Amino acid sequence: MKQEIEKVSLEFDSEIMAVSSQAQLEELRVKYLGKSGKITAIMPMMKTVPNEQKREMGMLINELKSKIETAVASMQDEFKQRAILDEINNAERIDITLPVETGVGSLHPRTIVQKEIEDVFVSMGFVVEEGYEIETEYNNFDAVNVPANHPARDMQDTFWLNNGQVLKTHTSAAQNRILKKYKNNMPIRAIFPGRCFRNEELDAGHENTFFQLEGIIVDENVSVANLIYFMKEMLSRIFKKEVDVRLRPGFFPFTEPSFEMDVRCPYCDGKGCNVCKQGGWIELCPCGMIHPNVLKEAGIDSDKFSGCAFGLGLDRMVMMKMGFNDIRDLNSGNLKIFKQFKVER
Ligand code: DAH
Repeated sequence: MKQEIEKVSLEFDSEIMAVSSQAQLEELRVKYLGKSGKITAIMPMMKTVPNEQKREMGMLINELKSKIETAVASMQDEFKQRAILDEINNAERIDITLPVETGVGSLHPRTIVQKEIEDVFVSMGFVVEEGYEIETEYNNFDAVNVPANHPARDMQDTFWLNNGQVLKTHTSAAQNRILKKYKNNMPIRAIFPGRCFRNEELDAGHENTFFQLEGIIVDENVSVANLIYFMKEMLSRIFKKEVDVRLRPGFFPFTEPSFEMDVRCPYCDGKGCNVCKQGGWIELCPCGMIHPNVLKEAGIDSDKFSGCAFGLGLDRMVMMKMGFNDIRDLNSGNLKIFKQFKVER
């Protein structure tokens, strides 16, 4: 009987090796452990075993039984696990031979408008410069005539870094660097778009991360007339029609005099609509004549040279042109939102 048990055990070992599916495993289980299986078939042999060997034979049979049970159970687990993996693999499988149906994507609305504005300025002889996002306190404030303790520092809620640097609160932070770069190569005509950061309460009109597009012109005899000309020209080309602008007095430490430039609503020609909130005019662009201190700080002779500057709210332009109502959508990365907006309003 002992030989028979060993034979069955060896048979099982070799048969289980050949099992490759759950169905085959179940077949094998029944073949050995089922009611008329191989183990049951050995049992009658017990009758022929001498009494003193019965106990040992009983133990050998039990051992074989539990060996088979354990082997079957662990293979069952393996199959289950494999089934789950197969399911995941099938579900997540990417067929790289399938034709692309989702389209190739597009530029962010902000990028589209930024490029448009850049093109207009480049065609008028401007260079496009880039500012840093992490700036020194000096460049963000002191160099543009906002000394420590000046109340104007409170106009902008600043994100300060532990090392005393700041996340730039305005594109004006690049003015000093650009003025120095080009001061021996007058005249200077530069625009510098960039991401700015302020510790703002968020709502439909305020983001803590937003874009401005700033510009400076420095030469002999630059006047407010130059400022108005360039802004009017740029806005007319962007809105594809002759626009009217008006200046109101404003205050900025880096300009003297300072203005708020409004544009007559290009969508209703000033009659009043949703875009201009029925006001007919849209406040678009703070600007002014560059303060002599800012020129001096960059080593430019402010008796000989003068300049004008403007700080266009790029996000606001994008919202107006593309019909966004909530500035937060611009940073959302939500393709469903972006896809609703056409390039042209
Ligand atoms: N830096 C100002 C701000 O973020 C905007 C600004 C105003 C920029 C007047 C200018 C300017 O260049 O001349 O609030």
